[in-house]
Amino acid sequence: MNERYISNLAHRGASEYAPENTMAAFYKAVELGANGIETDLKISRDGVILLLHDEKLDRTTNGTGKASEYTWAELRGLDAGSWFSPRYEGERLVELEQFLHGFGAKSLHFALEFKERGIEKQTLEMIRAYDVKERVTLTSFIYEELVAARAIDADIRIGYLVKTFDEQAIEQVKAIDGTQICPRCSQLTPENVLLAKSRGLEVRAWGVADEEWMHHALRCGVDGMTINFPDKLAASLGKS
Ligand code: G3P
Ligand code: CA
Repeated sequence: MNERYISNLAHRGASEYAPENTMAAFYKAVELGANGIETDLKISRDGVILLLHDEKLDRTTNGTGKASEYTWAELRGLDAGSWFSPRYEGERLVELEQFLHGFGAKSLHFALEFKERGIEKQTLEMIRAYDVKERVTLTSFIYEELVAARAIDADIRIGYLVKTFDEQAIEQVKAIDGTQICPRCSQLTPENVLLAKSRGLEVRAWGVADEEWMHHALRCGVDGMTINFPDKLAASLGKS
């Protein structure tokens, strides 16, 4: 029996099996045993927070250009599933409100990643409206956006996504009273994980390319990871 709680966050939903950041991928995540979902936040031209990873719509929808160039009414009509498989034709982009409406009541954790500046206030309002604050970690590579979120909310969980996992990054997380440091999996060592933990931080990995890297992260002692195949992590934790 595994005594250690590992957060198994489906990365953009169970994105190995269904088109990322769609309701299909989020339902799949729950079905496959994830205990949380990671997703990416952007804003439409008319101020609707939606879930999209890329800078542009081109790779994962039949639209082109940036989401911020379109209204939500225009964006919601796009096909966000066919690029992945014809089976998912008609799958739509998802707005944050729809996501929280569908999944907020389940006992899941949510890692919400700010992909741009200036969306923290609206996101926090939505989190409060759906009463999910205790199960949310706000994350970003954009440090200033996390600083802005902290200025509004003194105790919400914050995770800083870092490209370099070193003492300086750890201190940056401490400076905004962050909960987590989130390094790329390939940067993890047992030593730097221990160092972050000795500073009172959780360590949550990203960029877990395959099962070998998943086991590397577990061996290094992480508290969790975002992963495209949460079923494999769930199976591995069940076995340990
Ligand atoms: O878990 C964080 C991870 O999602 C960051 O990378 O590019 O997939 O948003 P990206
Ligand atoms: Ca992300």
